[in-house]
Amino acid sequence: MTSLQTSLEPVMAERLIRGRRAVRAYRPDPVPDTVIAEVFALAAAAPSHSNTQPWSVDVVSAGARQRLGEALVHAAESGKPSPDFPLRPYTGTAAERSFAAGALTHEALGVARDDRAARRRAFLAGLRFYGAPHVALLSVPADADERMTADLGIYAQTLMLAMTAHGIASCPQGVLGFYADAVRSVLGPSTDKLLFGISFGYPEPGAMAAMPDVPRAPLAETTRFHA
Ligand SMILES: Cc1cc2nc3c(=O)[nH]c(=O)nc-3n(C[C@H](O)[C@H](O)[C@H](O)COP(=O)(O)O)c2cc1C
Repeated sequence: MTSLQTSLEPVMAERLIRGRRAVRAYRPDPVPDTVIAEVFALAAAAPSHSNTQPWSVDVVSAGARQRLGEALVHAAESGKPSPDFPLRPYTGTAAERSFAAGALTHEALGVARDDRAARRRAFLAGLRFYGAPHVALLSVPADADERMTADLGIYAQTLMLAMTAHGIASCPQGVLGFYADAVRSVLGPSTDKLLFGISFGYPEPGAMAAMPDVPRAPLAETTRFHA
């Protein structure tokens, strides 16, 4: 579609935006190549600072996806994290929100907070893409600044909404950026800096509803209106 659509039914926007949910259980059957091509083409319509389009994307499926999962689990079990962007613990309000979301997610996955073995299993399941048949790894060029990493986030949400519209579930995963050396050992050397990944595929029946409705902060906490 080339013409500008200036008005969309608000209810459709709400269904699309709230219809996306971080999903953590997938059917193994792959998304057809034509559909994958369509959602990634749509994602590239995302805006960016000065149209720099700094996203660099590896879509990994089939045997490569299997090798990548094994390399990530091996790295987690035997090595140190090798993130391209430093991992810093959250503090303050971000830490509180992160803790609350983690508790809800673990509860939905049936993982008790004090069950360290179950938490570890859930962590490793994430490194195996929660069973999703595909994963997109999102990177920026080596010289990227903060603006470009922000553009990558805008791209990611555009991609996930395009997927939602096609009935494809997704889970954005920062953890897929923890072992960048393992990723390069499978996908080949690159000077790009890996930020995070998005696992995707068709959800297991009930997987969408099984995920928690992670609450958002009241608008007044995050947004000020000036006139
Ligand atoms: C950039 C990014 C990284 C994330 N990393 C992870 C992750 O490593 N593992 C995971 O299970 N969920 C991860 N999430 C999912 C968030 O926990 C989730 O989006 C949040 O709790 C809100 O839930 P919702 O997406 O279902 O609305 C990540 C989300 C984003 C946007």
